[in-house]
Amino acid sequence: MTAFSQHDGDGRLRHLTTLDGLPRDQLREILDRAQTFVRSPGEIPARSRVLEGVTVANMFTEPSTRTRASFELAARRLGADSLNLDISLSSRVKGETVLDTIYTLQAMCVDVFVIRDAEPGVCQYVAEHVQSHVSVVSAGEAHLSHPTQGLLDALTILQFKGGFRDLVVAIVGDIRHSRVARSSFRALSTLEVGEIRIVAPEGLMPDADEFKGAVRHTHFEDGIAHADVVMMLRIQKERLTGTSIPDDRSYFDQWGLTRARLKLARPEVIVMHPGPMNRGVEIANDVADGPAAVIRAQVTNGVAVRMAVLETLIENRLKRGVAR
Ligand code: CP
Repeated sequence: MTAFSQHDGDGRLRHLTTLDGLPRDQLREILDRAQTFVRSPGEIPARSRVLEGVTVANMFTEPSTRTRASFELAARRLGADSLNLDISLSSRVKGETVLDTIYTLQAMCVDVFVIRDAEPGVCQYVAEHVQSHVSVVSAGEAHLSHPTQGLLDALTILQFKGGFRDLVVAIVGDIRHSRVARSSFRALSTLEVGEIRIVAPEGLMPDADEFKGAVRHTHFEDGIAHADVVMMLRIQKERLTGTSIPDDRSYFDQWGLTRARLKLARPEVIVMHPGPMNRGVEIANDVADGPAAVIRAQVTNGVAVRMAVLETLIENRLKRGVAR
């Protein structure tokens, strides 16, 4: 059996299950395309009919606000039909396998499956079994990857900082259980960010064989000193097994991003957070809502990035000449 690739035989992206192995030029192409779709709140959203006749199905087995809503808006704004399958009300709860669910929806002419699942490997497994005209996009895989989040984080940094090479980016919090940290690290490494720091309490640090090339800090203040970008993460309580963490108040005292702590970073620092935020745990209200925060721009960019990914995959399908 040949090894799985998210690229087609001509090296074009067919699926997006991970940012691992995605070349820098393809990553930049998605960011450049996404930038053309960015519209601020109050502006008329970017729209086209380029995905007319295409059906995109969202299949989320874990909760989501930002990712699910933005994939749905992205699909609709490109003219696609969009379907949100409520897994808790689907026949999966009656014992139907994931593949039978996929084959059922494929029979209804679904072209793109957007999948969030707590179990590692589901996106790739589905991608290995769909018809040749169908694409699979990860909307978050266990603690392992969240590729469109990595892309939108990179786009946000590009917008606010104008480039990557001279930056110090500190990713702070529960790195060990965070798919956001892994995908953002992968994107920023590929884009050759000057210095990436992972900053976490000992118990929330990932294993030594992960995040190769990052500078590790277990002391918050050292980790954010002179940083250009501080990316805060929530504690992934749903993934904690046997890890002891302090209560919310103690965590905030040691690891919460306050205005006083933020003064250690560069004066023009930006503060990012993928959401959902736990205010008063990893971030103070006046930082989350303060002038350095670009958290809402991240959300805006999420729609644009997902439009760019969907358009890229369907455009590549047309280039492959794959019949439906
Ligand atoms: N950042 C993110 O994935 O948010 P949701 O869980 O709300 O989709």
